[in-house]
Parts: sequence; C-alpha cells; structure tokens
Amino acid sequence: MKIASEILLRPARNIRGSVQLPGDKSISHRYAMLAGIAEGPSRLENYSTGADCASTLGCMKALGVTWQRKSDQNVIEVQGRGLALSAPSQPLDCGNSGSTMRMLSGIVAGQPFTNEMVGDESLSRRPMERVIKPLTAMGARIDSQQGKPPLRISGGQLKAIDYRMPVASAQVKSCLLFAGLFADGETVVEESVRTRDHGEVALRAFGAQLERKTIGGGSEVRIRGGQRLRGIEARVPGDLSSAAFFLCAAALFPHSELTVPNLLMNPTRARLLDILMQMGLHISVTQLDEINGELVGSLQVSGGNLRGITIAGADSPALIDEIPVLAAIAPFTEQGIEVRDAKELRVKESDRIASVAGNLRKMGAEVEEREDGLKIPGRQSLHGAELDSFSDHRIAMAFAIAALRAEGETLIRGAEAAAISYPAFFQTLESLSEA
Ligand code: S3P
Repeated sequence: MKIASEILLRPARNIRGSVQLPGDKSISHRYAMLAGIAEGPSRLENYSTGADCASTLGCMKALGVTWQRKSDQNVIEVQGRGLALSAPSQPLDCGNSGSTMRMLSGIVAGQPFTNEMVGDESLSRRPMERVIKPLTAMGARIDSQQGKPPLRISGGQLKAIDYRMPVASAQVKSCLLFAGLFADGETVVEESVRTRDHGEVALRAFGAQLERKTIGGGSEVRIRGGQRLRGIEARVPGDLSSAAFFLCAAALFPHSELTVPNLLMNPTRARLLDILMQMGLHISVTQLDEINGELVGSLQVSGGNLRGITIAGADSPALIDEIPVLAAIAPFTEQGIEVRDAKELRVKESDRIASVAGNLRKMGAEVEEREDGLKIPGRQSLHGAELDSFSDHRIAMAFAIAALRAEGETLIRGAEAAAISYPAFFQTLESLSEA
C-alpha cells in the first residue's frame, strides 16, 4: 500500500467503527530475529506490515535465514537455522529501524565474522553507544562513527556480563539478552525503570529459560548462554502504539464509538489505556486471552469529556511512542498536557519534542518546549496548516489526528513516513472518520 507524499486532511465530526490493527512492531521484530536463530520452522501470523519489520526480515535473509511471506494474510514462514548464521556478502541494511540495528547487533555480536550494519539518514544520527558499550564489554569489537551508525561488528564467542542499563531502553535490554545466548555463563541485565518485556516473553515462547526478579520499580533479568531455541507458531497481537492514534481520535469526540479486537495488552505497554481513561475515554475490555505469553484483548471504546494530564517519571518511558499523539491532542483537553522526564524523545526518528512543538505552533497553538518535555495548555482551538512529518512515522500520524479537530484543512508533507509502522493508516483513519 503506497502512501502519497502529501496528504490533505479535513476536520471530522465523529469517529466510529471497528479497527483491525497490524501486528505489533516490537513483537514482530523480536519474533523474526528469534525465529531465525531457532531450530525448526516458525509461522508468524499478523506480522507487522511496516517497513521497519521488513528491514529486520531483509537483514535475516542476508544472514542466511530463509523465509517466505504468504501474501494475503501477513503470514511469514521462517526456516530457523539455529544459533549459527552465515556471513552476509553486503552490509546489513536496517533502513529507518533503530530496533533492527540495536536488537540485531546482539545476535550479530555472537557470530564469528565481521559485518557492517547501516541505516538511512535518520538512523545514522541515532545513538548506538548504548549497545556498543555493553557488547564491547562482552567481547565484541565494534567500530562506529562516534557512537553513531554505521556499525562494524566483529563478533564471536561472548562472555557474560552483569549490566545495569543507564538509559531505560527495551531495545538495549533485548539486545543484551539475545547476546547472552552466545555468552559463556549467565548474563544479567538490570533496569531501574521497567521497560517493555517483549524480549523476555518472546525468548520464553521460543523455549529459552530466563529468570526475572523485581527490584524496586525496575527489574533484573538473567539468561544462561548456549540455550537452543525452537521454532513457534504465533499470531502477533495488534499494535498498541498504532492503536493509540485511533484511541486518541476517539478521545477527541464525546460521541465516538470504536471497537478494537485483538489488541496487545501487555502490562508493560498498556499504561496508555489507563492514561486515556484518566483523560475521560471510556474503555471496556470485552475479551482477554494470553497468546505465547502476551496478553491480547478486545476493546469497546467511547468518548467523553477530554481532561488534561501530566506524564512524568516511569510513565514517560512507558508511553514513549504514544507521547507525540497525546501531545497533539493536548490543546483540545480541558487542562492541557505536561510531559516531563522524556528526553529520549529527542533521539527518536526525529527530535519528537521539537517536531511536536513546531507543528502545534503552525496550527496556532501555544506550546512550551523544554529540554525533557513539553507543556501544552488546554482549551485552545487549532487551525489547519501545512505541516511536516520530519520523516517520522509517528509525527505524520499524530498530526493527522490533531487535524480532525482543527478548523479548515491540514496538509501533511512527508506523509509516506507512516509506512514505517503502518502503511494502511490513512485509509483506516478515513474509514473511521465521519465528515
Ligand atoms: C522499542 C523500544 C522503545 C520504543 C521503540 C520500540 C522496542 O525504544 O521507542 O519504538 O521494541 O523495544 P527504546 O528502547 O529506545 O526506548
């Protein structure tokens, strides 16, 4: 599904309908990587349709993993090759995907060859020191451009480390747990703030054993090296961070009605649902299942009065991908939204604090931009404007939602960025919007 580079959005009167989401991006990446190093076949249904997860599949192919896409159902069948991959003949192209580069570097570091990982312009600006440092401590040799891509990794047998993560990052945690499979001894990863645990859940689903202990607000995860994985049959739950756009759209209209089946509800991701309920959205869970260790639910959602909120502390990493859209609807809340402790937003696909503030101001909003967040007063009315996605999928989609309540038309340039995680986004939004 190709998205036009400029998309014109008109205000809507209401949001109504049912939305089937593409498979969760975080889980799709991890399943594709682990399926590649597992023994035997894996079948991954509802694999993410986004370009980022296609980058992961492309890298796995270059590392000698065979897989086929069953076109009509987003099913990927992977023939796992066990822990030993083959040396790629070209650099591994991670495209726009920080997840691919950071998490896959943990697997590549365990292979007895040298290879290069490259990315697009945006990825080439993003910090990789956070994986370089611990992987180097485990025995890999990694050259970079002052901590930025491309990464040249010479891997091999690794040694286990005990590592306390200085930044709250689930990508780093997964990277090190994956690397731990190639280490002698037990690798320990500690985090002071709990981040998403899809790496741990997926490793268990593929048959690995790991131990997790809660320490204060964070946790410690231990994994023994040399464990062999076995292929799985899985259905990837609907992407909660993609659902966030439609949930925020529903929150904008007091009479909205939305049904969301098969949605990922992993507790380390679902903070968004509590926050939206505090903001006045009515959410009821009509079904709840566990699939391969991941919670999956169906939601019935309806609008109400939109209240403001403060996002700070542990909530900021827990909501990191959803803050752009929450901030984009902030002017329409009663009390406004304040975001603190979210400096990581500055090193995402774009500087998301600056991107959000810039676009909101173009729509006529008053915004206070801070080093680690934003303060956006409520009860503001916005007008349509010409906006930029800053080549960032979440910015393109966040402002399509703000446009629903603006006066007049909004043009989003660089709208094709949405295909990084959600190629069908604009079509789905149109089908839910009542003019
Ligand atoms: C992700 C973790 C987060 C998030 C990203 C996906 C993951 O990044 O922003 O979109 O799948 O682990 P960080 O690990 O940099 O916080």
